[in-house]
Amino acid sequence: MPRAAELFGLDGRVAFVTGAASGIGLAIARGVAEMGGLLGMADRSEAVLGAAEELRREGHQAVGVVADVRDEAGLARAVATVQAELGARASLAVNSAGIARGAPALEMPVEEWHEMLEVDLTGVFLSCRVEARSMRDGGGGSIVNVASMSGTIANRDLTQAHYNAAKAGVAHLSRSLAMEWLSHGIRVNSLSPGYTATPMNLRPDIAEQVKKFEDQTPMGRMARPEEMAGPAIFLLSDASSYCTGVDLLVDGGVTCW
Ligand SMILES: NC(=O)c1ccc[n+]([C@@H]2O[C@H](COP(=O)([O-])OP(=O)(O)OC[C@H]3O[C@@H](n4cnc5c(N)ncnc54)[C@H](O)[C@@H]3O)[C@@H](O)[C@H]2O)c1
Repeated sequence: MPRAAELFGLDGRVAFVTGAASGIGLAIARGVAEMGGLLGMADRSEAVLGAAEELRREGHQAVGVVADVRDEAGLARAVATVQAELGARASLAVNSAGIARGAPALEMPVEEWHEMLEVDLTGVFLSCRVEARSMRDGGGGSIVNVASMSGTIANRDLTQAHYNAAKAGVAHLSRSLAMEWLSHGIRVNSLSPGYTATPMNLRPDIAEQVKKFEDQTPMGRMARPEEMAGPAIFLLSDASSYCTGVDLLVDGGVTCW
């Protein structure tokens, strides 16, 4: 293997992945496992237990834990369980848990605003804190927060000011934590997907909307979830050892238009 390819290897490193039951989180978890990483898979859905079992059947080491990113103590217990079962400290983390929905700003009940911010922004902050405490004590690590191109653009035809604001927050939170945790050897970057064919976007009732997403994307299609694995592996691995505070847009060109 050429030496440059080895930079992407994650052999024996423990990765804690939130939102790992589905979509982008699951696809990144599988990619990390295929690069030799050991997985802690967390999600509020019990489906994460089955997802971890499937990866184990494929020969990977994976532990599934049910945890809600709004609950810091629960996240800390989840990280501790994963580390105890895998016998090593987590030095990698991917925070992909999130929700998306639309509501016009003038009519949106403020409870919806709070819920979006609580899961999509505060949930990422709490996840980062729990992961970073463990990484600090273990000598460093790399965290990748899944933001969105909606943190950079306001999506045409969608009313989701709460989601867009949360995602812009995730990118800037990542930059801020990247600077704060330099001395702990912890890198923090964000990955901002464009429209991606996950359960979020595959419901029959939004088929017309999806056609619009494809028309608005220069590459003419949505991403496959596994197309987020390569960029995430890059940001997690030593291949990106000089990157911190970066927001990596993986959007089929949307933000060029
Ligand atoms: N699909 C897209 O087009 C797209 C585009 C840009 C960004 N994203 C972002 O990617 C991330 C993953 O989205 P996806 O498309 O894979 O969606 P998904 O619905 O397939 O997966 C999200 C996962 O997060 C979990 N989750 C939700 N709330 C949680 C909570 N409070 N605690 C723990 N787990 C929770 C869900 O159970 C689910 O398994 C999200 O942050 C989303 O905003 C998605």
